[in-house]
Amino acid sequence: MTLVGRPVPHESARGHVTGEALYTDDLLGRLPGLLHAWPVLAPHAHARLVRLDVSAATNEPGVLTVLTADDVRGEGDTGPTRHDEPLFPAEVMFHRQPVAWALADTLEGARRGAARVVAEYEELPAILTIQDAIAGESFLAPPLRLARGDLGVMTTSALRFEGELSIGGQEHFYLETQSALAWIDETGGVVVQSSTQHPSETQEIVARVLGLARHQVTVECLRMGGAFGGKETQANTWAAIAALGAAKTGRPVRVRLTRALDMSLTGKRHPYLARYVAGFSATGELEAVRLWLWSDGGWSLDLSEPIMWRSLFHCDNAYHLPAVEAIGRVCRTHKTSQTAFRGFGGPQAMVVIEEVMTQAAHRLGLPPHVVRERNFYRESDTTQYGQTVEGADRLRTIWSTLGETSAFERRRAQVDAFNRAHLHVKRGLAITPAKFGISFTAAFYNQGSALVLVYRDGSVQVNHGGTEMGQGLFTKIRQIAADSLGVPAEWIRLMPTRTDKVPNTSATAASAGTDLNGAAVDDACRQIAGRLSAVAAGHLDCDPSAVRFAGGVVSARGRSIPFADLCESAYRERVPLFAQGFYRTPDIHFDPAAGRGRPFHYFAYGAAVSEVEVDGFTGAYRFLRTDILQDVGDSISPVIDRGQIEGGFVQGVGWLTLEELLWDDRGRLATGGASTYKLPSWTEVPEIFQVDFLPRAAQPGVISGSKAVGEPPLMLAISVREALRDAVKSFSTGSNSPPVTFDSPATPERIFFAIQEARLRNTPTARMPAAPATGLARLNAADCADFVAALGWVFEGSPWVAERVWSQRPFTSLEALHTSMVSEVARASREEQLQLLCAHPDLGERARAMSDASLDEQAGAGLGGLSPEGHRGLQELNAEYRRKFGFPFLYAVKGSTPDQILDALVRRLPRSGEEEFAEALAQVSRIARFRLEEGV
Ligand code: MTE
Ligand code: HPA
Ligand code: MOS
Repeated sequence: MTLVGRPVPHESARGHVTGEALYTDDLLGRLPGLLHAWPVLAPHAHARLVRLDVSAATNEPGVLTVLTADDVRGEGDTGPTRHDEPLFPAEVMFHRQPVAWALADTLEGARRGAARVVAEYEELPAILTIQDAIAGESFLAPPLRLARGDLGVMTTSALRFEGELSIGGQEHFYLETQSALAWIDETGGVVVQSSTQHPSETQEIVARVLGLARHQVTVECLRMGGAFGGKETQANTWAAIAALGAAKTGRPVRVRLTRALDMSLTGKRHPYLARYVAGFSATGELEAVRLWLWSDGGWSLDLSEPIMWRSLFHCDNAYHLPAVEAIGRVCRTHKTSQTAFRGFGGPQAMVVIEEVMTQAAHRLGLPPHVVRERNFYRESDTTQYGQTVEGADRLRTIWSTLGETSAFERRRAQVDAFNRAHLHVKRGLAITPAKFGISFTAAFYNQGSALVLVYRDGSVQVNHGGTEMGQGLFTKIRQIAADSLGVPAEWIRLMPTRTDKVPNTSATAASAGTDLNGAAVDDACRQIAGRLSAVAAGHLDCDPSAVRFAGGVVSARGRSIPFADLCESAYRERVPLFAQGFYRTPDIHFDPAAGRGRPFHYFAYGAAVSEVEVDGFTGAYRFLRTDILQDVGDSISPVIDRGQIEGGFVQGVGWLTLEELLWDDRGRLATGGASTYKLPSWTEVPEIFQVDFLPRAAQPGVISGSKAVGEPPLMLAISVREALRDAVKSFSTGSNSPPVTFDSPATPERIFFAIQEARLRNTPTARMPAAPATGLARLNAADCADFVAALGWVFEGSPWVAERVWSQRPFTSLEALHTSMVSEVARASREEQLQLLCAHPDLGERARAMSDASLDEQAGAGLGGLSPEGHRGLQELNAEYRRKFGFPFLYAVKGSTPDQILDALVRRLPRSGEEEFAEALAQVSRIARFRLEEGV
């Protein structure tokens, strides 16, 4: 009986529960003379270190030394991609950045030693938000871009709208914080035990810092107590400090971050700011979309560039975007260096396109699931980077099957009935898809290696390049190896991951751990089995191809020999019983300059239906039910895969609803512990949670026909965000209730305010004022966010204008404010100006996409009362104007009659493009002037 496909428990399940499974820091008792390390932390987000005096530290009892730049014999930099992370910085780049490390016999001693270090700083201005970074052009990388199709089609789309969305980051909160132990071994080599997803890179960085060749450094990872991407690059620094300490003192050194240190020193999921402009047909087909994504990369590059690439690769999610331009920028801020986190930039972009889908549905008065389905990829469609979407029909199958098994339509009716019957509690229901590309997007990482050793008694040691972080990689590898050699699971021992067993490995990441290492182990086992077959053929008197391995027995033609006996025979016949295995993913490539290629070996598909209940008084909610259908191919390990789906989904729910990272205005992380940072717990698991695998889903070209499962389910949590939006929408009873918008995470506070807004729209006449009436004095005193909230609307859909003039306060008059804003527009790039023009609706347009301000102004000019013929004529002229110039006809209508407006339109149509562009900007300024006079 084969093991692959069987619901076996996690290989360390018992150890996890009993505590017998060891983690890095559990080994410290085995190291006599161990030293503990504690950092000297900078108190500023950005500063020059002007003096560092460590002499007093060693007066503390037990303090041996303080590590500084003087101790570095190699290169004092741990940057994994660019060498931009000085280990002992002269310029402090984020609050609490370590500038030196005290080593002592006890942790308490090391803390006291660090406290005695004298460090003086000259504080420098810090950039703390994406907005500030954009304004200050503070970026870590050049713009990245993917595009295809003709975006001009948007100008004639039946529905055009735009929006902005800010998406919060996420703390990894692995249970085991970052830790490393280092010592000098009996041969003079450096050994590091590290909680790392990427032992080979940890080895590289340790060697770099110590000035050693890599063969002098061995890194071992037993297992991790969770990593989630947070230990893909960010385990290196702590390993380097431990190794440096060991090299300097000759004694073992331990670095383990406390939770508070870990949260304030290590990178998180990137926060994003997104802007979009989209055009849809009246029936909900997306025609064109422009996206701008800004990520908050923090102080150094780390993996921010490939993460932004993955965002651009996933801004389509499951949808065919016929015309699209996506531009990504990585902002440099004085914060922790943001890093890999389950989904690797994919989730943020997928939230944006799902936002666009729901916004379109709300504006068109269509059910969101209908708009989604209309835009699904079809088999043989290509993505915006030119890869054919193989398996697109799986998505449709998943969608329709899940629709039925979750009883979506029936429950839709039930939810609607519930909402009609309840005034202050509403339910929401949503279904969302997820398509996720599997492979590292840099092709060269897509390789796996293994070393399999069979002993004469038939027992087996398996080494491979992957690391175990709880995801069940070792469990799956054991199943694969056992089946390949036809022996029971107990005969297979998984060895801890070590760089001296398997060299030059990739990080265990991109969900590809089993695909790569499983295939490499299988390759090694098959080589050994092949050699054993030849030996067995002699014993069993048959052709080698007839030999079968199963259940610890090797057989052919009704005769058999125990596997162990065969191994002994092979040894005596001088046949080697070990092999190296290797796997490289075939046919993947991507050209970043052209933005074209086939970066992914395949796509993983899934969908989820979520139902929530929202309290109108508080914004608090309950997760009532989630149904998931995920394509895991032929599951190697169903218990593991189910756990990955459940865990990934709940982690995504935490990101999108509860977990909120806040930094204060001095760059200090205000949510630095579990008391202020709300993680999902038992109560956030849906009360009914139904997880199923797509049946009969073997994936060709992947080990055992399986599919990656580590990251894809996280993005199914978007269904919860959308269900919350659906619930909020039903608090507004107006017939043309506006689209519901809120930033991420959808915390109870945000939901509460979104409900308030929805309720305000209930009476058709009472609507939100375009902006709260605000006096100049209050504006001058406002902080940036309030200022933008009050004035962002003045230039239609372009809050950046207000944002950019904020720093020019105080304004002595409305005139002065207006002048500043107009000159900001004049200074803006042509693209931004065009975006601003395009943000305006067509005159006389009746779509709901219009802002309240526009609606008012147009009604005031009598455009609301045009005859049907007049309206049609205006529409035709508008369309002609748009076709010619590429932006809508703009006219400050206030005080004009419909005739005057039409006259102007007819008069301006024959003009040149440049002339009209200038004219349109001038009109926009006039509109803004009127708005300022009315609104402030
Ligand atoms: N599951 C557990 N329990 N702990 C983890 O740290 N990391 C996730 C996912 N599942 C993680 C996890 C991430 S970010 C990735 S990329 C994959 O596991 C990596 O492992 P795999 O490639 O073997 O799936
Ligand atoms: N995914 C996850 N981790 C990575 C990737 C990727 O595409 N590239 C480099 N590290
Ligand atoms: Mo996972 S974010 O690719 O480590």
